[in-house]
Amino acid sequence: MMITTQYLNLDLTYQGLSRDELQQFAKQRLPRDFAEQRSQLLNGTYENPSEGRQVTHVLNRSRHSVVAANGGRNRFSEIVRTLRSGKWLGATGQVITDVINVGVGGSDLGPLLGSEALSEFADDNTAHKLKVHFASSMDGTQLYTLLPQLNPASTLVIMASKSFSTIDTIANIRTLKAWAAPELSEQQWLDKHVVGVSSNIEGMTNFGIPPAQQLSFAESVGGRYSLWSAIGLPIALTVGANQFARMLDGAKAMDAHFGEADVLENIPMLMALTGVYNREQRGINNVAVLPYDGRLQKLPDYLQQLDMESNGKQQDRAGNPIDTPTGPIIWGGFGPNGQHAFYQHLHQGYDNFAADFVLVLKRAATKFDAATQAQLAEQQTLSVANCLAHRRLMWFGDGKTYPGQHPSNLLFVDELTPQSFGALIAAYEHKVFTQGVIWNINSFDQPGVELGKKIANEVLDVIKTGTGSSDFDESTQAILKRL
Ligand code: F6P
Repeated sequence: MMITTQYLNLDLTYQGLSRDELQQFAKQRLPRDFAEQRSQLLNGTYENPSEGRQVTHVLNRSRHSVVAANGGRNRFSEIVRTLRSGKWLGATGQVITDVINVGVGGSDLGPLLGSEALSEFADDNTAHKLKVHFASSMDGTQLYTLLPQLNPASTLVIMASKSFSTIDTIANIRTLKAWAAPELSEQQWLDKHVVGVSSNIEGMTNFGIPPAQQLSFAESVGGRYSLWSAIGLPIALTVGANQFARMLDGAKAMDAHFGEADVLENIPMLMALTGVYNREQRGINNVAVLPYDGRLQKLPDYLQQLDMESNGKQQDRAGNPIDTPTGPIIWGGFGPNGQHAFYQHLHQGYDNFAADFVLVLKRAATKFDAATQAQLAEQQTLSVANCLAHRRLMWFGDGKTYPGQHPSNLLFVDELTPQSFGALIAAYEHKVFTQGVIWNINSFDQPGVELGKKIANEVLDVIKTGTGSSDFDESTQAILKRL
């Protein structure tokens, strides 16, 4: 069974479910008012009850909200144009050559995935090559590598944080500020070397970011759904505002498909239904995401947040316990390399899993000479052949020592483009939404991560003050003592 749309295709033959079975299951599991809930999502009126706001990331797919001129001016596009053309000068007159996006979770994963996926679609050949880097982790790991290579006078920092209060991001920013201090005064650094992206405008202002360097987005856009908003700035800096807009167009096309296609022709709904079927009827608690194009290597990481932070919950929208299993564990890795690592277990181990193979059929290599192009085209074909082969083996087995019967989706595009990438990500968003509706989950909050943050602060206090460690268990106390 195969569904084709303008930019994205789904083959779900290896889910092993007939049209009739899918139709039946859809009837059983989709609530009667699904169409109404779906149109609320698509027009930005769906409720996020625990946070008391509506869910509006789909509205960011409109070019006007992000990149189009607004009364002759659009700060997002202006910032992109100035930086990409080499016209942004730092406080000491040096051209900005490097940008570091400092953010974590939704303020990192989408921008990082999009920048890696689309970098070869950069829409200009200006002599100025802006390099975009990412720093996310609270331990400063990326900064250890980046700082020795960069010069504060030619580096701009994007402080990307929806809340503007995430400690991981603040810690990286503090380090960057200290690193810049010998070269730039605090005011110089703020005036020419920092752009803020947040829904907390007051936070950006209090931090000292000049208004012209503040990009905001609505609080009703969830962090893990925010790459379409100003949070996507690193993508636009990598490829240009026009290509960024094409990514929005691809997502928009998927919105239209999700909103209009019948259930048995609807890619996100079928992804959702087969996923629920695997979870509930086949007892499968995990999905391996296996991209076969290196540009999509970060897709499993991105989908982990999208899916697991949205639907990894045991309470329904009203706070009542749910008695069926909900969102599965999402994991995975780059397929061709995974074949030489974890696929052995997938083929012959004892554990059940479902898989999403993500495939790009053709890849243009226009920047190379003819002979190299031909070789690279063959490599893409090699990757396609391997994807199809492993997918077959996982489903059919060999009748002997390979059990098979591991259901999978094949999501494929003819070519990876900004549009097909946008459509792919939007399809996953809508799959997660549909599953949330089926399980009656609020997919748009994340209360579970808050307790971890609270406990981390308690531990930090004890480390800093040197008192109160006796409240902790023996193991924690021993580590603190050693520290
Ligand atoms: O880990 C929780 C979380 O709130 C994510 O939902 C979010 O994407 C991430 O932290 C970063 O948050 P912020 O963009 O507010 O810094």
